[in-house]
Amino acid sequence: MLQKECFLKLLLLVVSLVVAASGADKFSRQDFPPGFVFGAGTSAYQVEGAADQDGRTPSIFDTFAHSGIMGGANGDVACDQYHKYKEDVQLMVETGLNAYRFSISWSRLIPNGRGSINPKGLQYYNNLINELVSHGIQPHVTLHHVDLPQALEDEYGGWIDQKIVKDFTDYADVCFRMFGDRVKYWTTFNEANVFVLAGYDNGLLPPVRCSFPFGSFFNCSKGNSSTEPYLAAHNILLAHASAATLYRKNYLNKQKGFIGFNLFSYWFIPFTNKTEDVLATQRANDFYVGWFAGPLVYGDYPDVMKKHAGSRLPSFTAPESERIKGSIDFFGINFYNVMHIKDNPEVLKMEPRDYNADIAVELISVVQDNTSSPSVEFPVTPWGLRGVLNYFKQTYGNLPIFIHENGQRTLRNATLEDWSRVKSLHGYIGALLDSVRNASNVRGYFTWSLLDLLELLDGYEAGFGLYYVDLDDPELRRYPKLSARWYSHFLKGGSVGSDGFVELERNLSSTYTSAEDFK
Ligand SMILES: *[C@@H]1O[C@H](CO)[C@@H](O)[C@H](O)[C@H]1NC(C)=O
Ligand SMILES: *[C@@H]1O[C@H](CO)[C@@H](O)[C@H](O)[C@H]1NC(C)=O
Ligand SMILES: *[C@@H]1O[C@H](CO)[C@@H](O)[C@H](O)[C@H]1NC(C)=O
Ligand SMILES: *[C@@H]1O[C@H](CO)[C@@H](O)[C@H](O)[C@H]1NC(C)=O
Ligand SMILES: *[C@@H]1O[C@H](CO)[C@@H](O)[C@H](O)[C@H]1NC(C)=O
Ligand SMILES: *[C@@H]1O[C@H](CO)[C@@H](O)[C@H](O)[C@H]1NC(C)=O
Ligand SMILES: *[C@@H]1O[C@H](CO)[C@@H](O)[C@H](O)[C@H]1NC(C)=O
Repeated sequence: MLQKECFLKLLLLVVSLVVAASGADKFSRQDFPPGFVFGAGTSAYQVEGAADQDGRTPSIFDTFAHSGIMGGANGDVACDQYHKYKEDVQLMVETGLNAYRFSISWSRLIPNGRGSINPKGLQYYNNLINELVSHGIQPHVTLHHVDLPQALEDEYGGWIDQKIVKDFTDYADVCFRMFGDRVKYWTTFNEANVFVLAGYDNGLLPPVRCSFPFGSFFNCSKGNSSTEPYLAAHNILLAHASAATLYRKNYLNKQKGFIGFNLFSYWFIPFTNKTEDVLATQRANDFYVGWFAGPLVYGDYPDVMKKHAGSRLPSFTAPESERIKGSIDFFGINFYNVMHIKDNPEVLKMEPRDYNADIAVELISVVQDNTSSPSVEFPVTPWGLRGVLNYFKQTYGNLPIFIHENGQRTLRNATLEDWSRVKSLHGYIGALLDSVRNASNVRGYFTWSLLDLLELLDGYEAGFGLYYVDLDDPELRRYPKLSARWYSHFLKGGSVGSDGFVELERNLSSTYTSAEDFK
């Protein structure tokens, strides 16, 4: 999870919109359709550790962390899942997860990005996948989660060069060939929209490319904020389509899996009911979601993007468009917040412009609820998740959807009694049930994250985990938070409702250890 609010230069003003928690209140696992999966997620660099062991080489995420940007935090050790994967699968079993969403470190499997396979990397992912499958937990695998091999970034600029299409396809080919007998759910990219905006426009995240005056905090040493976000996004779509085409041609018959693409989605609502703000909200959806979903479903970028970005937005040839259109079996959606949108036409007069000017909106503020402390915790706005699901249903043909990320941010050293996360899970899973009942084609839910891990901008200061990892303990012991126990109760068939919070507290108080007790 990225702290998107920061790079979007938001004023995190509290707009005191009091919103009653919407969504089903009392429900249980059995209310969901058969086959609906519940899981939790992580990504390679954020949990694995062993960053320079057994032949792995750095990714752009390693370089970013080691530049000191994350306040000195890095993923050299992280949660050491590389060595503790069996223990972590055991936690998943105890929690009752149906599925685990994780990513493969490209530079662990194929050091330097292309060429021969690293046998130790291959063995690690085989071990992890076997451990999951033998415990009845479905692996849902992401191929690129902010961690392009640094070697490819250095060699030709990574995603801004079309050479990446072949290298990515070859990497995907290795993954399909080696793991596809057991992995049925593949996602090519995590949060492609955030990756290109933060990586190539604001320059706030890997690979830290931007150009004056668009970098938020500093001047990047390279980049072009006016053109590169569009270019990187274009190559990502081509690479995705190439990998998906390969899968369908060479593997689908035998492996019978599914290929998806993940986007970060705010639910946007107009700041006022003035027509210009309502239109601006549609434009925000087109720029954030339609940028990728348009080509993937309809074969082309939204018209408003072509109009505002002009020649800086690359165009697809007819065969490219054909290949991209329909190249997904599902959308992965990461949802956290509802955002107010206001029209901002003045910026269209700016020269040069970047994406944030082309979109011509102002992201006013995250819509608050009345329960959380806004500086750290996210407001819980389940109706926003319903909004996103309705929007995808109505706009993109009701393709299957997995909620790949959704969760609550808390200071990681605060307490194991994470009521705000329990309330968040309860609210969002209730909203999901309402969406399912309203004919949304949503097939699964992964909370971010299984463990407190290396967060992109929070480092180790804040976490989203069901399990706390004690970083002061050489064993990096894991401890269940209240949220892990709540999720487990739900997943094992227990009924949940906000009236049960008191009962939950009573039931758990006997077994529960506070963070202070073991520090
Ligand atoms: C939040 O708002 C809801 C609905 O208006 C209300 O029932 C609840 O008591 C409020 N909670 C707090 C902490 O103010
Ligand atoms: C970035 O570069 C511009 C133009 O060279 C300069 O005016 C500005 O002060 C620099 N900003 C920082 C934070 O170094
Ligand atoms: C970015 O690329 C455009 C198009 O090639 C060019 O006109 C512009 O000068 C470049 N900007 C920077 C900062 O290099
Ligand atoms: C906009 O109109 C809707 C429906 O009438 C209303 O519920 C909402 O509060 C209005 N929003 C604002 C910001 O005035
Ligand atoms: C928790 O971490 C935050 C941020 O690092 C720090 O400000 C705070 O003092 C810590 N609290 C405790 C109880 O350790
Ligand atoms: C149910 O779905 C329809 C569109 O299919 C949408 O118009 C409606 O707002 C949804 N209802 C709720 C409560 O989300
Ligand atoms: C609390 O414990 C009782 C008795 O073991 C059990 O029936 C109930 O489902 C539990 N409730 C929750 C919310 O954990």
